[in-house]
Amino acid sequence: MAKQRFLTGITTTGTPHLGNYVGAIRPSIQAISGDSEPFYFLADYHGIIKCHEPERIARSTLEIAATWLACGLGPAKAHFYRQSDVAEIMELTWILNCLCTKGLMNRAHAYKAAVADNQAKGQEDLDHGISMGLFSYPVLMSADILMFNAHKVPVGKDQVQHIEMARDIAQRFNSTFAEVFTLPEAVVSEDTELLQGLDGRKMSKSYNNTIPLFEPEKKLRKLIMKIKTNSQAPGEPKDTESSTLYHMYKAFASPEEVADIEARYAAGIAWGEMKQILFERINDEIAPMRSEYNKLMARPEYIEAVLKAGADRIRPISRALLADVRQAVGIRSLG
Ligand code: TRP
Repeated sequence: MAKQRFLTGITTTGTPHLGNYVGAIRPSIQAISGDSEPFYFLADYHGIIKCHEPERIARSTLEIAATWLACGLGPAKAHFYRQSDVAEIMELTWILNCLCTKGLMNRAHAYKAAVADNQAKGQEDLDHGISMGLFSYPVLMSADILMFNAHKVPVGKDQVQHIEMARDIAQRFNSTFAEVFTLPEAVVSEDTELLQGLDGRKMSKSYNNTIPLFEPEKKLRKLIMKIKTNSQAPGEPKDTESSTLYHMYKAFASPEEVADIEARYAAGIAWGEMKQILFERINDEIAPMRSEYNKLMARPEYIEAVLKAGADRIRPISRALLADVRQAVGIRSLG
């Protein structure tokens, strides 16, 4: 049997933080095994949908690439490439646009949220400021997935609808023209986005409560010292479930270490001490990757070459698929 293809994209608009590491980067890299063929890519054309700051897009692309490479995603492990280096994805996007109904896109969460936002602001035109890129963003995502006939797409819950739309579009193509596309399935991992941020809410760029993954050691410690706790004094027994420090620790520690910390909570560990323990635990895990990251960030030309080579390696797949698609829709050589 052919290997199962796993494919996922990372939008290039931010700096990777600890929540991304715990929720996406670490589990993805751990999940790579011999019986699957993984595809990871930097979704820079998704990046420009909402972010119109070129420096930020470029910087984020570099940071995300360096992060994934530093965390162990080498070309030996996975296909790793940049969306914009695979021009066939754009061509496929147009063809899929011609099959995708507007009604399907009207139901997309991101679009509906933008409309709701306009409504809440009392905008007369509910489509005010909504670009075609935002509106048809699930079509681009479908092209990413269908281009490589991915079987499984690991994503957060918020993306499941988009995978269903990709299936829908693939099905419509297959029944209208020819059986070209594999129908993809979403794989939702339970623990994505589980990490809490500095204020105890989910760690997220939009809450401004993140801890960047590769902050220098001193800064990392400083941020951890800022994590919100209650005002219980040292010596008072403390609750674990309501403690952000505890949940963060759990995301990094072994079951034995967690059991030990639970005992120390019961015995009244001081918050300051717990913060120091948490800092050390996180730092132990990420320090080797941080040093790799810093080396990579100093060599953008090397990262560029890795991404280019990644795209070159898969281009035969995208070329072949696009040739089948063009043939199927009637865009053909005339003789
Ligand atoms: N839209 C996804 C997100 O915001 C990123 C993404 C782009 C993606 N293309 C993809 C994920 C294809 C999975 C498959 O998280």
